[in-house]
Amino acid sequence: MQELKRTHHCGELRLSNLNEEVTVLGWVSKRRNLGSLLFIDLRDRYGIVQILVKTDEIEVPEIRNEYLIQVTGTVTKKDVPNKNLPTGEIEVVASQINIINKSENPPMIIADETDALEDIRLKYRYLDLRRPIMQKRFFTRAKIVKCVHEYLDSHDFVEVETPILTLSTPEGARDYLVPSRVHHGSFYALPQSPQLFKQLLMISGFERYYQIAKCFRDEDLRADRQPDFTQIDIETSFLNEDQILTLTEGLIQKIYKDVINYDVKLPLRRIPYDEAMNKYGSDKPDTRFDLHLESIKEILANNEETLFKENKYIKGFKIENVASETSRKVQDEYNLTARKFSLKSYIFIKFLNNELEGSIVKFLNDEEKAQLIKLFDLKNNDLLVIGVSNVLKTLNFGLGAIRSLLAKKYHLIKEGTYDILWVVDFPLFEKSEETGEITPCHHPFTRPVDKDLDKLETEPYNVYSYTYDIVMNGYEAGGGGLRIYDQNVQKRIFNVLGFTEEDIKRKFGWFIDALKYGTPPHGGLAFGLDRLTMILSGTDNIRDVIAFPKNLSAVCPMTNAPQPVDNDQLKDLGIKLIDEEDK
Ligand code: AMO
Repeated sequence: MQELKRTHHCGELRLSNLNEEVTVLGWVSKRRNLGSLLFIDLRDRYGIVQILVKTDEIEVPEIRNEYLIQVTGTVTKKDVPNKNLPTGEIEVVASQINIINKSENPPMIIADETDALEDIRLKYRYLDLRRPIMQKRFFTRAKIVKCVHEYLDSHDFVEVETPILTLSTPEGARDYLVPSRVHHGSFYALPQSPQLFKQLLMISGFERYYQIAKCFRDEDLRADRQPDFTQIDIETSFLNEDQILTLTEGLIQKIYKDVINYDVKLPLRRIPYDEAMNKYGSDKPDTRFDLHLESIKEILANNEETLFKENKYIKGFKIENVASETSRKVQDEYNLTARKFSLKSYIFIKFLNNELEGSIVKFLNDEEKAQLIKLFDLKNNDLLVIGVSNVLKTLNFGLGAIRSLLAKKYHLIKEGTYDILWVVDFPLFEKSEETGEITPCHHPFTRPVDKDLDKLETEPYNVYSYTYDIVMNGYEAGGGGLRIYDQNVQKRIFNVLGFTEEDIKRKFGWFIDALKYGTPPHGGLAFGLDRLTMILSGTDNIRDVIAFPKNLSAVCPMTNAPQPVDNDQLKDLGIKLIDEEDK
């Protein structure tokens, strides 16, 4: 084995090193063979440097891409600098090259720009992670974690770990279950979050807790969701909502400054949930672009057209100066999105040459047309997007999704800007889309606002809560709230949610018991570390900031997890599989 001496990292060499003899170690990123001259781009975690090998003058072993080599040579000024590399003004003229380890021909291009499909990148993740752009994202992630430790440590928070093998904590997703070998038929659940444990730590008197916590949720995956992900989990005692938000804003400001040198102006804007939904059609509005939904039901109140007559809610938004470039095809592009949000009907109306145009315009009278033009202050070439529904939430969400897609399509989002805000005052409950049953908006330990306590049983959907989400560029980066610290209120909430006494005792008895022992008022929140890293790294794919993620089918293409296990293992666990057909 060669001696692994090195004097410098590849990425650190500059003109200031001119004429020095250096030794570097790295992977061969690229080769160009020009007869008696061989150029090698050599890469280590600090960057890339060009090596010049005069093949007439020194003995050169056969070198291929991704070979790990050691090069000794002299730093020399390049005649034509390479402006794309920080080391681009110099090259190392090699006097000796040793091969430390050979490599098979890699299955993908290992560079910032790669040709590989994502499943290949995930299958060969260790190679994908050699790409400088990928490594940068992990340095960003590590810097965020460092900021979290620095900020929270300096504000008296104590880091406490909580169990991974535990009981189900209801956060709205399905649990991942782990069968017990010792207690056949019993299962641990992996935590969807450390929610109840951090509340217990408040009952224990820690006052300020945090944890970089692994969480597990079995839910449909999306570009910003993974089955196992990481939270920056925080809980405090004795603080009110405003104090928690202010403390958290300090952390956000520090992270943005230290990690990407961006100044976040405080205090952050706070938008009530109802306003976010009505104005932007989203509980995580991206307000980098100024498209507002407006109700037009009033204008069309007497319109006899079925579409308008039979739908309780009609809303729309305007995009300036795009009507002429918006074809029928563009409208069709968003049908899938509309359907995904159960929005059955949406319409485009163009304002061209002082006239409204579109299939629906013939059903509008002059007065209605004039009012529409006035309400939206329509100018030539503006586009109106209108949606109808009998369910306000469906309409808001559907139009909100189309609003975001059109903003992207028409480049209304200023790149490199950050839009950070709180959405506050969420309702306590909502109707589950799957079951139609009442379900918590956040989780069942969320504290209802004091003035709504009387309505808990009679008008549960009109009860609001002390909850807040932190929204960054249209992503929910974190969320939390104040918690119930009164066991009777907690029991009432469980009752409203339809839990039987038996359920409550079995699932949460241990927790309700704890509330009896002088529980302090408490509250907190959790950031998604992966989402935060994604936003600060400028990618829109959560898998780019997780070292070994799962694909959208919850499979790890590298290890092929999940996999069937041996019958003996199943036997140990007392588990018998049923055939797919018998399900
Ligand atoms: P919540 O369920 O809102 O709250 O989660 C907090 C944050 O975690 C991130 N997140 C995810 N990230 C990646 N993949 C997922 N599947 C995923 N699910 C959630 C989001 C989200 O904002 N216990 C409460 C927090 C509290 O009340 O203190 C909780 O877990 O960024």
